[in-house]
Amino acid sequence: MTMSDRPTLAYNAITPKFGSELIDVTLLEMSDEDVEALQQLAAERGIVVVRDQEMSMQQQADFAHRLGPLSIHQTGESELPPELLLVQNDENSKRAVGGAWHSDISSEERPPALSMLRMEVVPSSGGDTLFADMYQAFEALSPEIQALAKRLTARHDSKGHHLYLRGIKTLKELPSNVHPVVRTHPRTGRNALYVNSSFVGRLMETTKLEGEAILAMLYEHIALGVSFHCRVKWKPNTVVFWDNRCVQHFATFDYFPELRRGYRATSIGGAPYLDPAAG
Ligand code: SIN
Repeated sequence: MTMSDRPTLAYNAITPKFGSELIDVTLLEMSDEDVEALQQLAAERGIVVVRDQEMSMQQQADFAHRLGPLSIHQTGESELPPELLLVQNDENSKRAVGGAWHSDISSEERPPALSMLRMEVVPSSGGDTLFADMYQAFEALSPEIQALAKRLTARHDSKGHHLYLRGIKTLKELPSNVHPVVRTHPRTGRNALYVNSSFVGRLMETTKLEGEAILAMLYEHIALGVSFHCRVKWKPNTVVFWDNRCVQHFATFDYFPELRRGYRATSIGGAPYLDPAAG
């Protein structure tokens, strides 16, 4: 067991540098100091897993408000609080929600900081979520490619699956935004790789051909970087917080036609930036 430097949040490390599972915590009883420590832990170790957290949808939404302003999802699911996004796959699903490497809704001008996913129904096996540490992904690049990546920006485009969240009809109505390829995390001051194959359309400073080659190399680096990945096995009432500013994730879909259902809340982060002085 590893103890964080905040005595209120004891955790087991999932891997030495990435991922943490809290011990003996009831989220709904957390003090403001605990919630602050949870956000700091997510910034430092990417993901925070908390088991056995029974709560209603409204209690989850209320807790998520303690993480900062939230994305409002206009899903039309009447029993769902507007702050929660239904994450569900079943016998009618052709692909999983989140079934490719991504950082949540990175096409926003101020993309998400933390996501909080609580699983309610899990399949008899499978349905794990894979996570990749974008601090270590950046640090594992050679100094030459790190320097190149720090000079580049990328256009992030909204994709069709995002339409229904906002009650709008055409892709043209959704925003694209340009973000640095390497971003500095505002809490840790560390640099993280910030391109993902689900949202990035192109690099801005290169030709299309050059940009596609650079992005393909970075995506392969992320997907094959098993030493900076970890995997979470869900149980009913497992809650996972991930920090989208330094983490990508991939929801496996190996359980068809079984049901997997959870609810996600997402806090709005700041506009991504690269601090030239950051390491
Ligand atoms: C998501 O991308 O938010 C879904 C993740 C998951 O279902 O594991």
